[in-house]
Amino acid sequence: MIETAYTQDWPKPLKAESRNLSFSYGLGLAIKNLSVPIAEYQVTALIGPSGCGKSTFLRCFNRMHDLYPGTRYEGEILLYPDSRNLLARDVDPIEVRMRLAMVFQKPNPFPKSIYENVAYGLKVRGITDRRVLDEKVELALRSAALWEEVKDRLPAEGTSLSGGQQQRLCIARALATDPEMLLLDEPTSALDPIATASIEELLLDLKQRVTIMIVTHNMQQAARVSEWTAFMYLGELVEFGLTKQVFTNPSKKQTEDYITGRFG
Ligand SMILES: Nc1ncnc2c1ncn2[C@@H]1O[C@H](COP(=O)(O)OP(=O)(O)OP(=O)(O)O)[C@@H](O)[C@H]1O
Ligand SMILES: [Mg+2]
Repeated sequence: MIETAYTQDWPKPLKAESRNLSFSYGLGLAIKNLSVPIAEYQVTALIGPSGCGKSTFLRCFNRMHDLYPGTRYEGEILLYPDSRNLLARDVDPIEVRMRLAMVFQKPNPFPKSIYENVAYGLKVRGITDRRVLDEKVELALRSAALWEEVKDRLPAEGTSLSGGQQQRLCIARALATDPEMLLLDEPTSALDPIATASIEELLLDLKQRVTIMIVTHNMQQAARVSEWTAFMYLGELVEFGLTKQVFTNPSKKQTEDYITGRFG
């Protein structure tokens, strides 16, 4: 088992934390005993070589794995301030997915209009008043820095947008239900540098209102957008700390080798 290094700095206040979290798709453990604190209104980056369990870890936070049979969680994910264990049996995964919204690597708008993509979660929540829907759709599109580009074409298909716009549409869709956390799994890896820069800029703005966890393979991106970094390897947490510390003065050789490109 890997012994985890924590720097002396500790996030405060916490929005969430995993405690001794393990997860299995059926056979062995994909992630093992992960205890990671998530600072409120800040960005936590998850980094590590392919297959180390970053996506698996992220997906535990909104109970995505529940959609597949044979999966198993151990440990806890506490959401603050109510200290609710998101993995508890009596917690409704659909509710969790609205409180902790996910954005994937490949932009995946629904085959619906721009408007309906954003209104979707609101309608699932039972909002039917057109005025309320219009207002919330506009607000979410503004928050995702997309409103000006789409306000005159809301009935157009979401898939008619450019890749970067589609990803911002997915962010707007995620934001529409006022989530407490945004879970981003390599959100810019399918985008060009300009669209990537606009998403990164957007994150700096969004974190004032929502706590963000981001998986990225781009070390510069992790350094640019995150306050905290967790480095994972083979399903375990190797190191957690302030991004500037982890990147300039890592405590573990494995971390150093990874961020300097010597492996992975
Ligand atoms: N649906 C699945 N069923 C079975 N095993 C899976 C499944 N998804 C992932 N795994 C396994 O879990 C481990 C962690 O995978 P995961 O996708 O979380 O890694 P990752 O760090 O996100 O990698 P990448 O950087 O390539 O996206 C891997 O060994 C992978 O093979
Ligand atoms: Mg992944």
